[in-house]
Amino acid sequence: MSTQAEVRRLTAPDIRARKGGTPIVALTSYHAHTARIVDRHCDVILVGDSLGMVMHGLETTVPVTLDMMILQGLAVMRGSRHALVVVDLPFGSYEAAKEQAFANCARVMKETGCGAIKLEGGRRMADTIAFLVARGVPVMGHIGLTPQAINAIGSFRAQGRDEKDWPEIEDDARAVAEAGAFAVVIEAVAEPLAARITGQVPIPTVGIGASAACDGQILVLEDMLGLSPRVPKFVKRYGQLGPSIEAAVEGYAADVRARAFPGPDNVYGMKGKPPRS
Ligand code: KIV
Repeated sequence: MSTQAEVRRLTAPDIRARKGGTPIVALTSYHAHTARIVDRHCDVILVGDSLGMVMHGLETTVPVTLDMMILQGLAVMRGSRHALVVVDLPFGSYEAAKEQAFANCARVMKETGCGAIKLEGGRRMADTIAFLVARGVPVMGHIGLTPQAINAIGSFRAQGRDEKDWPEIEDDARAVAEAGAFAVVIEAVAEPLAARITGQVPIPTVGIGASAACDGQILVLEDMLGLSPRVPKFVKRYGQLGPSIEAAVEGYAADVRARAFPGPDNVYGMKGKPPRS
């Protein structure tokens, strides 16, 4: 008999049902070991294509491939058991046609076992979202700043800071919701607009650089841990792991150079004989 209590993973409908309720807690993770920690505290784990910049040191998310997403999605699924795992579709894997998007969603879902996918774009992606949802793919939308469009928009700047830009962003949010997305990420959008959109759409909004009024919040894990050298204004650093990692590596290097590591506790002696000290 198994002594381990069965834990049911959260699903896209569970997250959808959180509209207007207890805020949804979401973070990114790309690895099994961070997923294990994040899973204990979060409702949603996003395997974001930000992994291209965070793990691989790329300048943008544009070069990220589907294979990279699948590999890290699988690692996060192995490390977690409670949170809904959402995997990003990378640039170039869904924009050409609805059928292309479905084929790549099916690959991601079959090969990782994740519970949902995320894709960027508002009105321009609405037909694709409806096509995917009708075929069993839970979709999280992503509007406001859409980093995959960086080459078209020119810079990672906040959106909707001028009221004349509000109608387009509101239309994007409505289009994603009407197409059947179960939630929508709102990235780098002026606070009053993000709050207003949250009141307008029937699905949960998950803010990043948006508003405390959103139905949930998401951050890139490495950014909030203090591991990323440069972070946008909207990131609050909840840890300073960079300096502690540096101190640990410095200590290790000094010990190795001084032959202080490995010590007697870190080596295997011969049976029946104490290790050399
Ligand atoms: O790729 C990512 O990490 C994201 C979050 C910033 C929402 O899309």
